[in-house]
Amino acid sequence: MSKFKVFVTRRLPIALDRLDPIADVEVWSERQPPPDDVLLEKIGAIDGLLCLLTDQIDRHLIEAGTSLKVISQMAVGYDNIDIPTATARHLPVGHTPDVLTDATADFAWTLLMTAARRVVEADRFVRAGQWQTWEPDLLLGANIAGATLGIVGLGRIGQAVARRAKGFDMRILYADRQRLDIEQSLGAECVTFDRLLQESDFVTIHAPLTEDTYHLFSQPQFQCMKRSAILINTARGQIVDSEALYQALKERQIAAAALDVTDPEPIAPQSLLLTLDNLMITPHIASASRPTREKMASMAIANLVAGLRGDRLPHCVNPEVYQ
Ligand code: GLV
Repeated sequence: MSKFKVFVTRRLPIALDRLDPIADVEVWSERQPPPDDVLLEKIGAIDGLLCLLTDQIDRHLIEAGTSLKVISQMAVGYDNIDIPTATARHLPVGHTPDVLTDATADFAWTLLMTAARRVVEADRFVRAGQWQTWEPDLLLGANIAGATLGIVGLGRIGQAVARRAKGFDMRILYADRQRLDIEQSLGAECVTFDRLLQESDFVTIHAPLTEDTYHLFSQPQFQCMKRSAILINTARGQIVDSEALYQALKERQIAAAALDVTDPEPIAPQSLLLTLDNLMITPHIASASRPTREKMASMAIANLVAGLRGDRLPHCVNPEVYQ
């Protein structure tokens, strides 16, 4: 029997030899994602695509994939893939939930603590030779213990962040599309989005990017927030209006922000956001612990293999394709 053909859009952190018995695998080995024309050329000749969140898998690509049996994405989010088109073509799309929940929550927590206590500014201060003595008002930050945390989206990652907040005796508020039973064990209170903005000392975003969450944070929302508030985003950059965030931080409408995701991504080196001291940015690495990324890759391969064999994907974002 001839082997399946697979295209993998970047080098993965684990070996792909599990695929050898069933597939001929081509790996795009550049640092940058494959350009659209390369993807278009490849997709017409493959059975399986293993892609990343940096690959824009639009309708025209999916429709060109006439022999495609599965799209397997190594990420939990899948806003870069046109899911309705894939579903209409009965094409299963896989993703990698759960395995990155703790790593991502840990990182959101890292950003929260680092921004609250101005660790990056402090490091810059020392390296610039400005540390002259112990000063009573040097680099004063915010309290974490006892503060109010607002979680936007109490899904798997939002819940894991809430569990961490419990250990810090925080008051936990959340806003979600629905009230969730888990709130009791987390000690979290479901509130309206506006109330969350008004009462939180820290606001952390854990919602997917959808039409409803695009620019969920813009000028009116920053105006609602406390002047002392800190915003943390480890979800998707486009949930925050970058221009409005720049103004809010510059005018100290909110105290600080810590972003692991930006819009656009990567952020342009000349972006005005990078001129602000009260903003910290990391390059979309919230899930980037070695064991987590290895598990994500392994899960993406498991989804890919299932799809090639015509089996149900262990983690499918559009299970309607099986109806
Ligand atoms: C990362 O952002 C992911 O969606 O896995």
